Amino acid sequence: MKIGFFDSGLGGLTILREVVKVLPQYDYYFFGDTEHLPLGDKTKEEIFEFTKNGVEYLFEHDCQLVIIACNTSSADSARALQQTMLVGKYADRKILGVIVPTVEEIINSPETRFALLGTKHTVESGKYATELDKREQREQELVAISTPELVPLIEAGDYRAAVDCAVKYIETKAGESEVVVLGCTHYTEIKSALRKHFANSKRFISQDEVIPEKIKKYLVAHPEIESVLSREGGRNIHLTKHRADYDLLLQHFLSGGGA
Ligand code: DGL
Repeated sequence: MKIGFFDSGLGGLTILREVVKVLPQYDYYFFGDTEHLPLGDKTKEEIFEFTKNGVEYLFEHDCQLVIIACNTSSADSARALQQTMLVGKYADRKILGVIVPTVEEIINSPETRFALLGTKHTVESGKYATELDKREQREQELVAISTPELVPLIEAGDYRAAVDCAVKYIETKAGESEVVVLGCTHYTEIKSALRKHFANSKRFISQDEVIPEKIKKYLVAHPEIESVLSREGGRNIHLTKHRADYDLLLQHFLSGGGA
């Protein structure tokens, strides 16, 4: 059995790339819903439907564990899918999102003022604030900033424009925040440029640096999942819409070089 990853596109691949570095022995299946990109602008119902289709595809292709490597889908759909899909023939499977592990990272940080950059849906869902509020001891303040231009720019390979746009949002809306949380897996692609721009004035939390260790710990804590995972180093990728510009990237990725 494999570990599946769902996202609309590049963002999830960057998470998978880092997970593979830490846990290369397992077999992985990536489902990229490139046809419906960007998910962040869609309705809650559409996001649920597209995510469900992706998770179903991954379950049908022998994924024991599915990581929803997309904040937009993790916001409401991950929980709804855990409640509705993990019954009957999929009762032994697992679905994990990326927001809860990121919130744990926020909680364990020494800083108190955080800014979250996310898609329209992630910000409107209020999921980060809800998860922070559940942890009663928390002292962190969080300003959530919707940055809908970033995913299309990153998917188009226009990194310079994406960085400029993110910088403008951070400078005008992140106020005195000490930490910026990149709450969309696509934004990992511009983390280095943002770190360089803000030098020592802000710290950035990037999910490709958070999720691999969380999955590793999860597998140690869940031997019933880990013991059924196959270990042939397999990498499969399914995109709902072919993208010529992904070819090189995927070839490189499938050959073990990373996205
Ligand atoms: N990568 C997804 C996320 O983390 C969003 C991509 C999209 O809007 O399609 O939210």
